[in-house]
Amino acid sequence: MTAASRSPKDFFRPLAVGAPTPLREIPARPSRAIHFFDPSNPKMAAKVPDMVGKVDVLLGNLEDAIKADNKEAAREGLVRIAQETDFGPTQLWTRINALDSPWVLDDLTTLVPAIGDKLDVIMVPKVQGAEDIHYVDRLLAQLEAKAGLEKPILVHAILETARGVANVEEICGASPRMQGLSLGPADLAADRRMKTTRVGGGHPGYLVREDPPRIDGVANLEASRATYQQDLWHYTIARMVDACAMHGIYPYYGPFGDISDTTACEDQFRNAFLLGCVGTWSLHPKQIAIANRVFSPSVEDVAHARRVVAAMGDGTGAVMLDGKMEDDASLKQCLVMVELAEQLAA
Ligand code: GLV
Ligand code: MG
Repeated sequence: MTAASRSPKDFFRPLAVGAPTPLREIPARPSRAIHFFDPSNPKMAAKVPDMVGKVDVLLGNLEDAIKADNKEAAREGLVRIAQETDFGPTQLWTRINALDSPWVLDDLTTLVPAIGDKLDVIMVPKVQGAEDIHYVDRLLAQLEAKAGLEKPILVHAILETARGVANVEEICGASPRMQGLSLGPADLAADRRMKTTRVGGGHPGYLVREDPPRIDGVANLEASRATYQQDLWHYTIARMVDACAMHGIYPYYGPFGDISDTTACEDQFRNAFLLGCVGTWSLHPKQIAIANRVFSPSVEDVAHARRVVAAMGDGTGAVMLDGKMEDDASLKQCLVMVELAEQLAA
């Protein structure tokens, strides 16, 4: 099912009680930075109201990085923060615990009745296949009907197991609630038995080396040669972007754990943006500014795109602009840029 083919009846679940919930469109305004906070940490919780309006999404994290002893405090903290805060233009998301954990049932049965009217999206970690989304979708429908909620809560899956990557298309299409997917590079690396220890980003050992210079056809293997680091995440992000595009939902990068390395963080985010992602996670306030900058098209790109749109007239045929050929297909690329700029300006 694509975004265009969604209809209100897609949200209808034949429950004994409750009216069919109306369709809520995927929020048109892209969420460039999904800023994580720990609702069990009073210092972080106190900062939440100040961040409203400064970031596209605030996400109360209940899963990894929250100690087992703090799971309940995090859940209760999120309920309190949500009830006390007017989020204005900022979306409120949460990341619930994994579906095989002892905490997830309490997460859903507590959050939906208490703050379901404020929660835009529930991020589900370690999704393995469509069956995980079906389970969450069904449970949400029951809890929403019981609580009399009018807007369905959307679902975002983290792609962080080898099985999840293998099933990425079916995950994206598993429910009309699906809002998007994020890459979970740390868990995914472990699940694949990759030999890395970082959260996102590259590795200096994953590289290609320039061919040796040749003298009279003989390779000089003693000569110094440049090396080029490769992107460990290219394959997964490309698969994720295609699956999301196919189902009309949003792809996101994910966490970049080296908070101090803002340059490499920006590079990873930009690669993801250029490949089609709409946003990423922010684990520290300084990553919000990076994400907002990277996931917004540049003024120059938008100005160029508008020139192409104007030059293409009715949108068919081909024109020459600055020595370059533009046609129906390059026009479509430019419209992506113009549309995104308009959504962000709205
Ligand atoms: C995120 O959850 C990750 O595992 O990278
Ligand atoms: Mg993870």
